[in-house]
Amino acid sequence: MSVRLSTGEEIPIEMHKARMVQKIQLVPVDERLKALKEAGYNTFLLKTKDIFLDMLTDSGVNAMSDNQFASLMKVDDAYAGSMTFYEFAKAVEDVLGYKHVMNTHQGRAAEHLLARVFAKPGGVIPTNYHFTTTKAHIERQGMQVLEIYYDDALKTESTNLFKGNMDPNKLQSVIKKYGTDKIGFVRMEATTNLIGGQPFSMKNLKEIRQICTENRLLLVLDGSLLVENAYMIRQREKGYESKTVAEIVKEMCSIPDIYYMSGRKNTSVRGGCIATNNSKLFEQILPELPVYEGFITYGGMSMREVGAMAVGMTEMVDPSVAGCSVEQIKYFVNKLVKAGIPVVTPPGGLGCHLDAKKFLPHIPQSEYPAGALAAALYIASGIRSMERGTISMDRDKDGKDVFADAALTRIALPRRVYTVSHIDYATDRIVWLYKHRNLVKGLRFVSEPPVLRFFFGKLEALDDWGLGLKEAFKKEIGNA
Ligand code: F0G
Repeated sequence: MSVRLSTGEEIPIEMHKARMVQKIQLVPVDERLKALKEAGYNTFLLKTKDIFLDMLTDSGVNAMSDNQFASLMKVDDAYAGSMTFYEFAKAVEDVLGYKHVMNTHQGRAAEHLLARVFAKPGGVIPTNYHFTTTKAHIERQGMQVLEIYYDDALKTESTNLFKGNMDPNKLQSVIKKYGTDKIGFVRMEATTNLIGGQPFSMKNLKEIRQICTENRLLLVLDGSLLVENAYMIRQREKGYESKTVAEIVKEMCSIPDIYYMSGRKNTSVRGGCIATNNSKLFEQILPELPVYEGFITYGGMSMREVGAMAVGMTEMVDPSVAGCSVEQIKYFVNKLVKAGIPVVTPPGGLGCHLDAKKFLPHIPQSEYPAGALAAALYIASGIRSMERGTISMDRDKDGKDVFADAALTRIALPRRVYTVSHIDYATDRIVWLYKHRNLVKGLRFVSEPPVLRFFFGKLEALDDWGLGLKEAFKKEIGNA
């Protein structure tokens, strides 16, 4: 939610109050540089004791509500037949409109099952844009991901309100080129993560549905960031201004054949699920569940989390939940734009995304500008962000880097966790860093795993640039 102040300024407003808090600490810049070096300049490998604002992700770190905490206490723990699962299934039917649901331990587990069951080896999965884990699972099943967004989707500064749209003409061309036998399914991702949390429109989802129906192709919706997409449809798409987020969510969910989500985002817990109204499809997936996840009434999750997910499911369509990060991100992005910082526009969901290619134009893609910017931001602020660029892409068969379409440094806004003063602090430090951007140089890998290398890979700073940046910070701001 947001409110307009008497000055005319619009600010995000928290529609909740803090009743339990966790102390955080801002360690001195000397220690930050030491911690970063130990972490191989990879923010994933930092320890939280060294982090001030943890804006790595919005996954599994959202604040649960009082009702969610209460639900942890009255859970029905059973290996099979738990009534807590049936409460969850009822919430799924009420909110999303699906009759059949199974839990998975998180979103990528759902992706694993779907990629396995609907695998067409040597085939393709067209998508509006991939997510890292989605791509890994699809490729592990011998298929290729095809990104078929509109041409301007990757333009970081834009006025296109629906950069997450899939290009229907390109989908038609893919169908012609590969034939329907080679297409496992068509995948739409809500609030498209890797292009900067950008939504698709309802109109686009319907167009894609139409093409899938005409060609008897399965349409799969990744709804990990569903409610933010619905919230932005309400704000941006003609005809949806007077609908509620709950109504828009129901309409979105009525369109695909199969729905899956990471429950770590919108429902503020740790888990995931796959849901559908098609009993045949459900029965096709179900036999794989106990092999990889567990019995249907827990699917790899703790029953406590299933109970909290049921409550989170009903709460997520409340505009105060659906819009809490969208409004904070809008405030954050607008402040940065005003200060001349290159950032993805329009503001989307999930987080604020700095355009590292423009922020650090002197660093070539081969030296990972988005990773360097995430590292520099940590030195200058104690804020942990995430590289979403070439480091997040694995090497090709010949061991060469695959340059990412966009080099983004993502500063995530977990739901109901941080406040406007945290955002003002982050803005100040980003602006300081921008003024000193010439002190930041590239990174080089020291060690890296072959798959999803961004998680465990270790790097070093070319010419040890972290030292110069730290010294400049100490001179101007102090050892804080
Ligand atoms: N799909 C989308 C769109 C996601 O954003 C994520 C996770 C997943 C699937 C996988 O879900 O983590 O529960 O296994 N995104 C997190 C992030 C990791 O930081 O953006 P998971």
